[in-house]
Amino acid sequence: MPDLLKPDIAPEVHRREITLPPEGQLLDWDVLFGRPAPRAIEIGTGNGFFLACEAARLPDWTFIGVEREPLYYYKMARRIARAKLDNVRTWRGEALDLLRRVPPGSLDRFYCYFSDPWPKRRHRRRRVYNQDFPPLIEQLLAPAGEVWFKTDADFYFNLTVTLFRRRGGWDLLDVGRLPLPDPARGEVISNFERKAREAGREVWGFRARRGEGRLLPRTG
Ligand SMILES: C[S@@+](CC[C@H](N)C(=O)[O-])C[C@H]1O[C@@H](n2cnc3c(N)ncnc32)[C@H](O)[C@@H]1O
Repeated sequence: MPDLLKPDIAPEVHRREITLPPEGQLLDWDVLFGRPAPRAIEIGTGNGFFLACEAARLPDWTFIGVEREPLYYYKMARRIARAKLDNVRTWRGEALDLLRRVPPGSLDRFYCYFSDPWPKRRHRRRRVYNQDFPPLIEQLLAPAGEVWFKTDADFYFNLTVTLFRRRGGWDLLDVGRLPLPDPARGEVISNFERKAREAGREVWGFRARRGEGRLLPRTG
């Protein structure tokens, strides 16, 4: 993609790009980052605004940002490189291809915000949060690891909450319509959340943690 990457930034982008191991082999987080640290993945980074802010806010964490659309991927990768964020690695491709290579029990946080809701029946298998998602992610999360979910599509919110409740063994936190993220509390707004709020749409979400199936009240 030569026109998407100017020569001045290309080396810094490529330095942060990961190559997936062959099918059947797993990523080695400590080799990727050169240090043990809490590990997060964001799927569908879009232009990377959220990822860059979150990685700057949590310098002791390590992040992999995944985006399949080249235009958005390179926007995100350039943003990460320009911000000199060395706790981020990037990968362009399909979420599932990366998730299949994450070692079981190794992931502390999974973000996927404003993931395409695919409202048409024939497209619903394309959703990131479908019925296969809770069983997959529960194998990858470390104890106390969490899934962070946000959307402006209330039907998708309701379906996704139901998926986790039906699966059982997940504690759901901060479930429902969400207030505007508060930077004073370390909360970062994503590009799509900003657009949704500017257009007057409500934002819904929750955090899901492996537990005893409790519905926990909103914190703060
Ligand atoms: C609606 S945008 C939201 C972007 C960002 N999360 C935000 O909140 O501003 C969804 C993004 O997820 C990407 N995406 C959707 N499904 C994906 C998948 N299965 N694997 C990788 N990227 C995906 C799309 O290309 C798109 O850029």
